[in-house]
Amino acid sequence: MSRKRVAILISGRGSNMAALIEAAKDESYPAEIALVVSNRPEAGGLLVARAAGIATETVDHATFGKNRSAFEGALQAVLEKHRIEIVCLAGFMRLLTAAFVNKWPQRLLNIHPALLPAFKGLDTHKRALEAGTETHGATVHFVVPEMDSGPIIIQGAVKVRPGDSEETLAARVLVVEHRIYPKALKLVAEGRVRVESGRCLIDGVPVPDASELLPM
Ligand code: GRF
Repeated sequence: MSRKRVAILISGRGSNMAALIEAAKDESYPAEIALVVSNRPEAGGLLVARAAGIATETVDHATFGKNRSAFEGALQAVLEKHRIEIVCLAGFMRLLTAAFVNKWPQRLLNIHPALLPAFKGLDTHKRALEAGTETHGATVHFVVPEMDSGPIIIQGAVKVRPGDSEETLAARVLVVEHRIYPKALKLVAEGRVRVESGRCLIDGVPVPDASELLPM
C-alpha cells in the first residue's frame, strides 16, 4: 500500500510536527510527511522541517486581513498542489471555518493538550490546575467545525503532581503528545479508524473513555 501524503500545519515551534516527522522516517510507517505549512513566516518549526528535507510553504494569514475564505482558499490550493491526502494540525493557532473543515472529512486531525471534552480552548494546563483535576493529558481528534469537539482518536493521560506548575505539567503532557500523535496518524493512514454516530471505532472497537485511561 502506498504511503499517505500528509501535510502538517503549524504556527510555532513544531515539536509535535517533529515527532510526526521522526515517526515517518521509518519506511514501514503508513504516512509520509510531504509538506509543512505555517501561517506565520517566523515559526521556528519551518526551520526544523527544512532541515529534515521536507517541503515547506507559508500562507501568512496577516496578508489576508479579515478575509478568512481567501486565507483558507490559499491554504487549500497549497495542499492540492502537493497532492495532500491527510492534514495534521500541530499547534496551528487559526480557527478553520466549516467551509474548509468540510473539505477534509475524517482526514483532518488535531492535537489538543487536555483530555477532551474537558478543557477545550486555550490555557488548558492553567485551567486544569485551577480546577484541581487529578488526571490531565492530551487528545488527538478529527476536526469538525465546532472547536475541539470532533471524534476522539486517541488520548494519553498524566497524573497531576502536588506542586505542579503550568510549565511542569505542560512538559509532561507534551511527552504524551509526542507519543500519541504518531500513533493516531498511523491508525488513520492505515484506514483502521471509522466514525459512527460521532465516535471513533478503531478496528471496530470504541476508543476508551478518558476516565478509563492509565496515566503514562
Ligand atoms: C501543543 O501543546 C499542542 O497540543 C497545542 O499547541 C502546542 C503546540 O506545540 N495545540 P508544538 O508547536 O507542537 O511544539
